[in-house]
Amino acid sequence: MYFLPENLDKYVVDHSEQEPKLLQQLTRETYQKVLQPIMLSGPYQGRVLSMISKIIRPKSILELGTFTGYATLCLAEGLDKDGELHTIDINEELVDFQRKYFDKSNFGSQIIQHTGSALDILPQLNQTFDLIFIDADKPNYSNYFHLIIDKLNPGGIILSDNVLWHGKVVEPLDEKDKSTKAVLDYNILLKNDERIETVLLPIRDGLTISRKK
Ligand SMILES: C[S@@+](CC[C@H](N)C(=O)[O-])C[C@H]1O[C@@H](n2cnc3c(N)ncnc32)[C@H](O)[C@@H]1O
Repeated sequence: MYFLPENLDKYVVDHSEQEPKLLQQLTRETYQKVLQPIMLSGPYQGRVLSMISKIIRPKSILELGTFTGYATLCLAEGLDKDGELHTIDINEELVDFQRKYFDKSNFGSQIIQHTGSALDILPQLNQTFDLIFIDADKPNYSNYFHLIIDKLNPGGIILSDNVLWHGKVVEPLDEKDKSTKAVLDYNILLKNDERIETVLLPIRDGLTISRKK
């Protein structure tokens, strides 16, 4: 889905950084071997994630929803040289695929994979983070926020993906559509929570930046 006219969207992409070759390979193999390749962050959002991470220079990153590791590697580009990135996905069939690409990158030894539901794994992580990327199942976004907010360092950043949910956030709500309802509730939660300040960016499917005060 394009929020900008297609030709303007192309102009934006053409005048931004190109994705690294390794991520092109990862994308190709994801399209060949994995269901729902559309879940990849993609080249433009990937460069945005990389840029944000490089600006922050986090010592610790947490990602919810690894999929095939595209955004993981983009976020890792900004990681402090002694830092670590924890990434969680419920789909155990993707673990070897992810590891293959992590080890081909410069960040393999800094990336720690967790397999299982983020709802179960988050309470077991006894550390705090400078940057957290939420990109797992939408119905749990608000639950994830409550589980991570105390693990986010002061000044730390939460990036939340798909917050415009293909534009459905401004369409009449079908009460059976749990994901749209969850995204609507989540966007209100971020806007109203006094512990953070929030800006929703119309990047790709919507990317919110929230900064802990
Ligand atoms: C949109 S994809 C993530 C895309 C990835 N961040 C990227 O940019 O390429 C969502 C992922 O969340 C995972 N997921 C769904 N429910 C989950 C849960 N309860 N806990 C952890 N991961 C979950 C799915 O298996 C899927 O790989």
